[in-house]
Amino acid sequence: MVLIIPVLILWMQHIRSQVDGQQINQIPKFSLLQEGENFTTYCNSSSTLYSFQWYKQRPGGSPVFLMLLTKPGEVKKPNRLTARFGDTGKDSSLHITAAQSADAGTYFCAE
Ligand SMILES: *[C@@H]1O[C@H](CO)[C@@H](O)[C@H](O)[C@H]1NC(C)=O
Ligand SMILES: *[C@@H]1O[C@H](CO)[C@@H](O)[C@H](O)[C@H]1NC(C)=O
Repeated sequence: MVLIIPVLILWMQHIRSQVDGQQINQIPKFSLLQEGENFTTYCNSSSTLYSFQWYKQRPGGSPVFLMLLTKPGEVKKPNRLTARFGDTGKDSSLHITAAQSADAGTYFCAE
């Protein structure tokens, strides 16, 4: 049996960012992972940001804070997650190593 793990990535401040005229991009937004697969996504901004935060919301749960990145180039690796603040200060990547069913959920990035 193949376990399918749904993962959705959202930018928390999308609406405010559109008002500011700030461009944000996330690829991919929605993904179905197989157990054991790696997954990487980015939250990109057109302007330099001072920090990146990542949150995770399990299906039916509340958003839970995962980590804060405050320096370009900074990397944090809690458990099987790796988050990196890009050297330019304009993007952050989130990497899931060997996806498990517990990884299912919605991941938010925020400034
Ligand atoms: C986001 O930033 C990363 C790292 O700079 C880059 O590789 C990727 O192509 C960018 N994606 C988008 C949608 O701009
Ligand atoms: C999955 O990610 C881990 C750690 O980031 C890496 O060591 C491993 O080679 C990756 N596996 C594949 C199939 O890309």
